[in-house]
Amino acid sequence: MVKRRYTLLALILLFFFGVLYHFQNQQSSLISTFTRTHFITKLPKKEIQQPVNNQTYPAFRHPLAPPYPYPYEFLINQPDKCKDRTPFLIILVNGRINDLEARHAIRATWGNESNYNVDVLRLFSLGFLGSVSDRTQKMLEEESKAFGDIIQQDFMDTTYNLTLKSLMGIEWVTKFCPKTSYVIKTDNDMFLNVDYLVHKLLHPELPVRQNYITGLLVSGTGPLRDKGYKYHVPKEVYPNDTYPIYCAGSGYVFSVDMAKKIYDVAQKIRVIPIEDAFNGICLHELNISPAIPPRDIFNGHHIQYNRCQFHKLITAHSYKSDQLRSMWQDFWTLKSSGCK
Ligand SMILES: *[C@@H]1O[C@H](CO)[C@@H](O)[C@H](O)[C@H]1NC(C)=O
Ligand SMILES: *[C@@H]1O[C@H](CO)[C@@H](O)[C@H](O)[C@H]1NC(C)=O
Ligand SMILES: *[C@@H]1O[C@H](CO)[C@@H](O)[C@H](O)[C@H]1NC(C)=O
Ligand SMILES: *[C@@H]1O[C@H](CO)[C@@H](O)[C@H](O)[C@H]1NC(C)=O
Repeated sequence: MVKRRYTLLALILLFFFGVLYHFQNQQSSLISTFTRTHFITKLPKKEIQQPVNNQTYPAFRHPLAPPYPYPYEFLINQPDKCKDRTPFLIILVNGRINDLEARHAIRATWGNESNYNVDVLRLFSLGFLGSVSDRTQKMLEEESKAFGDIIQQDFMDTTYNLTLKSLMGIEWVTKFCPKTSYVIKTDNDMFLNVDYLVHKLLHPELPVRQNYITGLLVSGTGPLRDKGYKYHVPKEVYPNDTYPIYCAGSGYVFSVDMAKKIYDVAQKIRVIPIEDAFNGICLHELNISPAIPPRDIFNGHHIQYNRCQFHKLITAHSYKSDQLRSMWQDFWTLKSSGCK
């Protein structure tokens, strides 16, 4: 009798959570929400991990966990970029579709490939707004034809899907330009000193490193659980209370072998919405530690422009397109003249 009452209670609870999930994710049927709720609460971590493209995978997924692995398609691609060239460095720039001004500013400043005496390839990584007939999408296709520097897959371009954008970038490198030497992932509101990166950190005259990744190191942090945060991460999405050490997403550099390694391991573990912390989780799985960079060259914060200082750093954060253009005018024409 008592047992039956508990069963009834359990059923009512299950139904309640099922309905809750249904409203959170209108596309799923009640059946699959039941399955999802059930498995999220009952399955240990190992069993939630699914093999590549297992179609049952979405049924286990928390709504805030980016759906992955999933066979996302390139809507805009540059598959032939590396047919006739072998870049030394690929710059993958994450941003949003509407950031047209930022892309133009980058093309005219640090992202101008013809500035450099090694082969540098620039690509903007973008998600999707949901409709191929959309005017913005059409304009993006035009922009891609004009500049040949946009890649886009058909995942929704949202904050919680940011990790998918970086995964797309390394997927592209792995599939379409595996002979490059190094890759840097950065964002479209950054200042990037490519010459310093190439000649003072990577050294084209030396053999390409292996298992190399560096950037602004972040350690001793963990997921923000409070729903009030813009980037909160529930336990169902990432159960541990700490993140492994990782490189801040504002700019991390890696040898090309790492692109495939991170891409491969990402197919086997649960993807979390925090892009840079997820990279650290992949490194943790791969048992590879990020290299400690020289002091103060990778900055994730805003630094007031100063020519001499900027000639000795690689990244600084948060510049509007106009600011970037005027900084660059000075930085590029005067070089480090007058600096010690
Ligand atoms: C997907 O994973 C589930 C659970 O591990 C398994 O039962 C199922 O057979 C897999 N399906 C495919 C198509 O691999
Ligand atoms: C890039 O640099 C080249 C050579 O300095 C210049 O001719 C070209 O106009 C620049 N491109 C842009 C978009 O500013
Ligand atoms: C992420 O993208 C997928 C695929 O387009 C979409 O179904 C999902 O709702 C997006 N997730 C979030 C949290 O925006
Ligand atoms: C999460 O915690 C478990 C148990 O302590 C540990 O084995 C695992 O390596 C941790 N994962 C990460 C990504 O830190």
